[in-house]
Amino acid sequence: MTDTATYAKGLEGVVAGESVICRIDGLNGRLYYLGYPIEELARYSTFEETTYLLLYGELPTADELAEFTRRMRASRDLSEPVLDMIRSFPKVDHPMELLQSVVAYLSGYVEHRIQHSLTCNCRDTLHQVVQISSVVAAWQRFHEGKEYVNPRQDLSHGANFLYMLRGQEPEESEGRIMDTALVLHAEHGFNASTFTARVVASTGSTCYCSISAAIGALYGFLHGGANERVMQAVDEIGSKERVKDFLDNELERAHKIMGMGHRIYKAKDPRAIVMEGFLEELSEKKHDFRYLEILKELERDFRSRMEEKGKPLYPNVDFYSGAVYRLLGIPAILFTPIFAMARASGWLAHILEQRVDNRLYRPSSLYTGAPERHYPPIESR
Ligand SMILES: CC(C)(COP(=O)(O)OP(=O)(O)OC[C@H]1O[C@@H](n2cnc3c(N)ncnc32)[C@H](O)[C@@H]1OP(=O)(O)O)[C@@H](O)C(=O)NCCC(=O)NCCS
Repeated sequence: MTDTATYAKGLEGVVAGESVICRIDGLNGRLYYLGYPIEELARYSTFEETTYLLLYGELPTADELAEFTRRMRASRDLSEPVLDMIRSFPKVDHPMELLQSVVAYLSGYVEHRIQHSLTCNCRDTLHQVVQISSVVAAWQRFHEGKEYVNPRQDLSHGANFLYMLRGQEPEESEGRIMDTALVLHAEHGFNASTFTARVVASTGSTCYCSISAAIGALYGFLHGGANERVMQAVDEIGSKERVKDFLDNELERAHKIMGMGHRIYKAKDPRAIVMEGFLEELSEKKHDFRYLEILKELERDFRSRMEEKGKPLYPNVDFYSGAVYRLLGIPAILFTPIFAMARASGWLAHILEQRVDNRLYRPSSLYTGAPERHYPPIESR
């Protein structure tokens, strides 16, 4: 470390690069992809169109979207060797470990890079972005002892995922909600997994290796996975009348309440607001208000206690998403893989952006080890 360098643990507050892809206004709870507010994308766009926006920087015309959608959908099916790999993956391992390996493995099946250069055709093939969802669905099917379901090209990305998972076409509203959940998770600035993808890309590595590394970063419990733990809490609480006792207990033991608070948002996460609406819609449709009632009461009570303490804290995207996925019939073990399915398009956008004006990431560290010392012969140690 040089005399002028400063040390920031976890790189907190360090600006590590320039990007045009995502803007987060944490104070006001606003999120934009390429300048478009997330609420508008959630309402009007699709995962395929949002992927185009992230990768090309502009919304497509109708012809461009039709061609791009056709290309994405044509890449959905998995080849036999990839299906064999999923089938033979140890049953006890987490699907995130499979995803990390399979993305690197997928690269063997496409001509994707020009040797010794930063150029590739991944924006055209979209192979890894599209196939992650097929891999997740196939893993779940095999896990349940069922057969692989061939993808359909007439369904949106989200609806096709549910179809491949269930073997039955989802209702229109379920497909729309799943697809919009992917839009909401597609991008979020320089978080740990995206930064990992950019670091690997900065070495001149392939998109596949960069995305595989990002999946490894997302697997860690400090990044993905809070929605799974929110649902554990909901199950433990059981009914809205028991929320107060739960909070008394957890806060007395200084436990964090999952799905609450955010490093950047100091207002309600705009994605949580959209997810809450989906939970209301699904609860009505399925005549099942258990999760909605518990979560609403948990939010109300927790926020009022925190406000009293002068620590305003708000729900993040994970607070309502687990309940939405559960009402779509998705098991909790797939929550983080679904996050990866969506974020793959943001990762690819960042990898391509990194390459445009690349500089190898190489920070310094603050040395706190031994001073110079000399090698002793083994018999004297
Ligand atoms: C996301 C998270 C790590 C952000 O942490 P952070 O940046 O340290 O949060 P802040 O600095 O704003 O925290 C301010 C205070 O609120 C408390 N706090 C933050 N989140 C809390 C939570 N979920 N439950 C209870 N207290 C919380 C902190 O302990 C801190 O208290 P203190 O001032 O007495 O030390 C944290 O909110 C958290 O662990 N949330 C739960 C996990 C989660 O939902 N993760 C998904 C994130 S998308």
